[in-house]
Amino acid sequence: MTHKSVLLNEVVDFFKDCSGIIVDSTLGLGGHSYELLKNNKNIQIIGIDRDVASLNFAKERLSEFSTRFSCIKSNFSSGIKKIIEENQNISGILADIGVSSPQFDNLERGFSFESESLDMRMDLDTTINAEIIVNSYSKDELNRIFFEYGEIKNPNIYTKLILDYRKNKMITSAREISNLIANNFKANSRIHPATLIFQALRIEVNNELGELRDFLKNIENLKSTKIAIISFHSLEDRIVKETFKKWIKDCCCEANVMKCECGNNNARGVIINKKPIIPTNSEIAYNRRSRSAKMRCFRFNE
Ligand SMILES: C[S@@+](CC[C@H](N)C(=O)[O-])C[C@H]1O[C@@H](n2cnc3c(N)ncnc32)[C@H](O)[C@@H]1O
Repeated sequence: MTHKSVLLNEVVDFFKDCSGIIVDSTLGLGGHSYELLKNNKNIQIIGIDRDVASLNFAKERLSEFSTRFSCIKSNFSSGIKKIIEENQNISGILADIGVSSPQFDNLERGFSFESESLDMRMDLDTTINAEIIVNSYSKDELNRIFFEYGEIKNPNIYTKLILDYRKNKMITSAREISNLIANNFKANSRIHPATLIFQALRIEVNNELGELRDFLKNIENLKSTKIAIISFHSLEDRIVKETFKKWIKDCCCEANVMKCECGNNNARGVIINKKPIIPTNSEIAYNRRSRSAKMRCFRFNE
């Protein structure tokens, strides 16, 4: 299994002054964790992932750091809560949200346009997968996920296509969906016509936005911790950006109060980079999948 870690140097640089515990909330194949452990002898890492295959690979890869590395199988929203409860002084948290290359490239996982299955679960212990969604969701439910998670302005044309098709035959592969859409919609020059439908299905299957919101909620009372979050599409980036903006506000009164009643000193920390850090042209040339990455960084007050 291989995965090219995005913004690797930038991540190592951001955490270089940390000591103690760093949580890698999306351990994946352990690429970021490996470089962090190698370059900073003062840290130990606790990794989280909900994909057992990735965890097993990372455990093996990071075995040389045995005493400085441990990991748990969990969603990052509940995993981070548990780690915070059990450990004081977490000095850094990394989240590199999204799908790893082996998850995309393994056709059995159902993430790619060519897959013969229609799964898309990161955690194979969960019950809902993309096949259940496309074959059983109502017209309104499909419209909702295509509109909200695919940001498709007119989702009904895609929904109708799927509803008509499934009247005659159950949909069992990602390839069937991508072909159905490609045969009915002109390809945009840059992306496959089914890209946003696949994005919407994946987000729904894995509750990706709910996970991110809960994760941010669960870390908001930390002190002194440095946070780096790498996201790959605008829906996630918007949640991170808006949350960081909320965290730097001194006033936390409800919008409808006439006069500030909260003391006006409630800022939780500082945003480190006003603009997100993005990959250089040479990184994009080396790893095309990095092209949509955006890293936002925050430091909680002491
Ligand atoms: C882009 S990969 C991380 C790659 C890793 N940083 C590296 O360098 O090898 C994202 C990983 O996060 C995991 N993941 C995504 N969302 C998750 C969530 N809500 N809870 C736990 N793991 C999650 C995926 O299973 C995947 O292995």
